[in-house]
Amino acid sequence: MSTTGLDHDALIVGAGGAGLWAALELAKAGVDAAVLTKLYPTRSHTGAAQGGVCAALGNQEEDHWEWHMYDTVKGGDYLVDQDAAEILAREAIETVIELEHMGLPFNRTPDGKIDQRKFGGHTRNYGEGPVKRACYAADRTGHMILQTLYQQCIKAGVTFYDEYHVVDLLHEGPDLGDGGRAAGVVAYRIGDGQIVTLRSKAVLLATGGFGRMFRITSNAWSLTGDGVSLAYRHGIPMQDMEFYQFHPTGIYGIGILLSEAARGEGGILLNGKGERFMERYAPTMVDLAPRDIVSRAMYLEIRDGNGVDGKDYLFLDVHHLPREVIEEKLPDITDFARVYLGVEPLKEPVPIQPTAHYAMGGIPTDLETRVTRDPAGTVVPGLYAAGECACVSVHGANRLGTNSLVDLLVFGRRAGRRMVEDLKGGTMPDVAVDAADAVTVEIEGLRTSRPGEKAARLKKELADVMFDNVGVYREASLLSAAQAKVIELRSRYERVSVADKGRIYNTDLLEARELGYLLDCAETTVAAALARKESRGAHAREDYPNRDDVDWLKHSLAYRAADRPLLRYKPVTITTMQPKPRVY
Ligand code: FUM
Repeated sequence: MSTTGLDHDALIVGAGGAGLWAALELAKAGVDAAVLTKLYPTRSHTGAAQGGVCAALGNQEEDHWEWHMYDTVKGGDYLVDQDAAEILAREAIETVIELEHMGLPFNRTPDGKIDQRKFGGHTRNYGEGPVKRACYAADRTGHMILQTLYQQCIKAGVTFYDEYHVVDLLHEGPDLGDGGRAAGVVAYRIGDGQIVTLRSKAVLLATGGFGRMFRITSNAWSLTGDGVSLAYRHGIPMQDMEFYQFHPTGIYGIGILLSEAARGEGGILLNGKGERFMERYAPTMVDLAPRDIVSRAMYLEIRDGNGVDGKDYLFLDVHHLPREVIEEKLPDITDFARVYLGVEPLKEPVPIQPTAHYAMGGIPTDLETRVTRDPAGTVVPGLYAAGECACVSVHGANRLGTNSLVDLLVFGRRAGRRMVEDLKGGTMPDVAVDAADAVTVEIEGLRTSRPGEKAARLKKELADVMFDNVGVYREASLLSAAQAKVIELRSRYERVSVADKGRIYNTDLLEARELGYLLDCAETTVAAALARKESRGAHAREDYPNRDDVDWLKHSLAYRAADRPLLRYKPVTITTMQPKPRVY
């Protein structure tokens, strides 16, 4: 296995919306930027985001960035850093308009403006009722964003390394958690199994989430927490990992997303008795309450025997909507129901259940996307993170729908601009000649492993325990059992076996490697969830049902340690919005 050395001023790991926008900013400024992706760029998971990207444009009705910021802070159950939320809500507007100017084919109002629709938790005048804030391209908004940004990157001359799986981070001096500087990456070239080292003055991690640690998820197979885990292994903590979002409307049994846009356009949720149960849980917002509240209500309905035919699913009903609304605004998701369930949404309700969807936690960063390594916010030189893998934190304990796309656009753009500034006058770091040796040995060890347990089996056991014990509702005994299981799986992972001994497109090997990343994410999620003795946003403890601002209005930071993660905490930034009870 030979090693090739390549240099670029900036390396971006991941070709979703955050990575692509950052790359575009760098290339436009004349910086030599390269993007590495383990996929083909337009297959990145941003493409699976359906319903919209929010910005207080006010095209359909009065709206203000201050209302958007308020909804974001309240939606996140006051764990949001309010300086970050202000940036998100303010810059959403110019970012969406810039995308429009790049050519993104948004749906339009009759007078030619970007059309907007309602989405969960987005309100008029600080909570009076739903507001039309989500800008959209039918129900394939993320797909259009990805295509638009990729075209712009090609035009601007960004270098792409497709099907390069990043397997380690390089550093100059001490490790990244101990004051060292980011210096590039080590990548595994999927097509031929070569290990490649790439040096750079700056590295942006934009690798997305890790929904694959749960059994039922909307996330693609590739969402395995690679960037979050690689940073963790180099001493960077994972922030707020106990907050993982379950989207209410996954296709029953498989978890594929049916966009909240269905409810934004007038679709409703029904229990097995045909009742609009959300009227009892969120009288003002009803079906458009934030996702944590809707997912909990669904679990309670099912637990009370109100699932359909007494089973563990409910209905999403759009059959009363005009055919043209479905065909023009919800074409993909209605097709998904036909293809995966054999259900015709124009005539009958669609079986749904909550699906693991989005990580509010991730790599801690400051407002400029620079990775930070401790509660004081000490910056890791040369290392940046943006998009779902990062925690800036604009989503706090629960993200609002459409705030993910705007997060990756706003902070992807910020990352690119900040890197341009920081790169002025920088020098190429020194990297030890043997810097790729350890990971090369690890990967060779996996490839030549003796017969033993398969990664797929361990992954299934992990996904089962995470979904069943660390899901919508949690409590101490379930979390402790999950922790014991993750420790057991870690030890069995030491002897994991790869059947394919070849080097050409060895996906067996890569899946084994990805399982290691998922185990890192799972161990921090469980440890932080077990420690947090309150309920806030998506972290709902049945044994601690109330929010506790006295002891728990703080971010968690989970560090890698010998036995189980070491937890530290840092304060939440509150600027103008004092925590209040959260009712909808
Ligand atoms: O429901 C949806 O379309 C998902 C959007 C999001 O997660 O922001």
